[in-house]
Amino acid sequence: MTPEQFVAGLPKAELHMHIEGSIEPDLFLRLARRNGVAVRWQTEEELRAAYRFTDLQDFLDLYYDGCRVLVKSQDFHDVTREYLRRAHADYVLHAELFLGPQGHTTRGIPLAAVMEGVLGAMADAHAEDAVTSGLIVLAQRHRSEEEALAMLDALQPWYGQLLGFGLGGAEVGNPPAKFAEFFRRCRELGFKVVAHAGEEGPAAYVRDSVELLEVDRVDHGNACVDDPSLVAELAGRRIPLTMCPLSNLKLQVIPAVDAHPLKRLLDAGLCVTVNSDDPSYFGGYVNDNYVACQQALGLDHEDLARLARNSFEAAFMPEAQRVDAIARIDDWLTRSGARAGERE
Ligand code: ADE
Ligand code: ZN
Repeated sequence: MTPEQFVAGLPKAELHMHIEGSIEPDLFLRLARRNGVAVRWQTEEELRAAYRFTDLQDFLDLYYDGCRVLVKSQDFHDVTREYLRRAHADYVLHAELFLGPQGHTTRGIPLAAVMEGVLGAMADAHAEDAVTSGLIVLAQRHRSEEEALAMLDALQPWYGQLLGFGLGGAEVGNPPAKFAEFFRRCRELGFKVVAHAGEEGPAAYVRDSVELLEVDRVDHGNACVDDPSLVAELAGRRIPLTMCPLSNLKLQVIPAVDAHPLKRLLDAGLCVTVNSDDPSYFGGYVNDNYVACQQALGLDHEDLARLARNSFEAAFMPEAQRVDAIARIDDWLTRSGARAGERE
């Protein structure tokens, strides 16, 4: 069995992906046409050629500009439904999606159009493919904490349909402390909280996310490797990292996948997970990320299964569903022959 086949049959959860980062070039051009939005590119090839980035800000400039093709509720529905269909094909049983409403409401798009489109597609994916999903709303960290708090208030009608809140966007210069009150309010309301940290920023941003913002998971977290006591704390408390190797490669966080700290952190006992971040921009969905790690970091079947188990351990999902999903991983290890001696 090839690594691709083993990964394809491995049940998994995806916990770090941005809906706005999953618009494939063909859908992007269709939406631009449908909404009469002028864009710089005429063909899918031209679009793909533009997906070369020097760093996070260089990517974010294109990503925010690309959001202009999302106008109507149906557009938000279409992009979400397409991602969940693609995730289902990668044997994702459960997905937690990031959405950044400020990138839309500041363009004059009604919050209700955004929320209803996304939530409707999540319900459809559950009905049609039995994929479960949850929504995590991100505040843009280059904006003020007051704006994040205003967004939190505006989302009140949808509180019952949200898993939690997080922080995304330009990291360096926008430290976790800037959003301490926003996170306190989110936790007080009973939401799960996550934050992008240690992608381009230092280990101190990861530590502050954990100790000051009291996050349930860290998104990326790469820089924690620079602080051994932080690594020990993350391992001891099993605070998950949602890592995104191909994203890190495309945004030049790492020079090559073999330099990624994922395997070192997995071996140090951290709850490391593998995710796609912005799959259409970074040239790979979740399975592509697993396979890239397998090849570059020499992961064996047990490592890959541990990453999948971690994804369910880290998921904000009901306990019974978690237990069932993890049992399906063990079943695959046996059926695939990866666990020698356990075959029928
Ligand atoms: N928003 C979308 N992708 C992101 C990333 N990789 N880092 C921070 N914010 C993001
Ligand atoms: Zn991200």
